[in-house]
Amino acid sequence: MQPKLAAKVRCSDKEIGEITKVIVDPLSLQVSYVVIRQLGTDQIERQVPISEVQEISEKEVRLRGSSEEFGRFPTLDRGQYVTTKEIEIAHLEDHLHVEPGEVLVPLPGLEQDVPRRTFFTNMTHAIGMLIALPLVFPVLKYVMKPMYAPFDNQWFPVGNVRKIKKEDTGVQFKFKRKFKEAFMPVQNIEKNVWVVKASPELSKSVYDGKEKKFYDHKGDLVWVNKPNFPYIAYSGKCPHLGCGYKWRKIRKLPEPIFLCPCHLSFYDAAGKVLDGPAPRPLDVLPIQVNSAGEIKVIDVEYKAGVKQQVRVL
Ligand code: FES
Repeated sequence: MQPKLAAKVRCSDKEIGEITKVIVDPLSLQVSYVVIRQLGTDQIERQVPISEVQEISEKEVRLRGSSEEFGRFPTLDRGQYVTTKEIEIAHLEDHLHVEPGEVLVPLPGLEQDVPRRTFFTNMTHAIGMLIALPLVFPVLKYVMKPMYAPFDNQWFPVGNVRKIKKEDTGVQFKFKRKFKEAFMPVQNIEKNVWVVKASPELSKSVYDGKEKKFYDHKGDLVWVNKPNFPYIAYSGKCPHLGCGYKWRKIRKLPEPIFLCPCHLSFYDAAGKVLDGPAPRPLDVLPIQVNSAGEIKVIDVEYKAGVKQQVRVL
């Protein structure tokens, strides 16, 4: 016979409480402890091994020892158990006939030991990743390839210096460039640069007497603009958000300026920001001019909207 919940519990000398719960061994599906609420206390519940139960009748459960010995059984640590409503135990009801009330099952060791459980969870994930990696890697490599493509350092002929009639004046040169955006087909797009024939003052304002160096994606030096070279090329993209800009005479200003109409950034002929949201000066490009006056540039592109030059193309 199994102990009934709410059954009275008696020791050898007197009644000491009633059964409030039973604890079941999840492997054998047998009752391993009875939980007894001590008479006269609402809170104190002691767990008593089933081996200490001497007799179970319809009316009561009788323990082997005295009430004094009963007081030495440990109180129930509720956190160590879950109810069978919380976790389902197969075939439990075939073995247990304790109704109504709470049937407890000890928490498995792994559940109590969170670091160990985390370890096993992580290990399962790691094994899963190891298995999946050979399958996922080629796809990732294909998708991420455009992000790691080397920069294009080819020189583009853009025009002849004969087009430039005046010092310190912006002159636009257009050219075509084959361009492939990620997985789109190759397109032939029109681009432009602004070239200025720089006076010594303007060169100083741009270079401050220092060489301007350009690097590839590995950090290798690609080109150096000398500070005394008389021609300066600027990327045709505004460093704010990449719009095209113009060389314009503004009524209130004595000299023409570069004006980006998108958000009204103003730059002087040296590319310095005079006004507006632009975070940095115009981007100077690698430039060379041959003996026939043909201008070539490398169409370097930098990230828009940031203070520092971060090369992206
Ligand atoms: S893109 Fe030129 S000011 Fe915003």
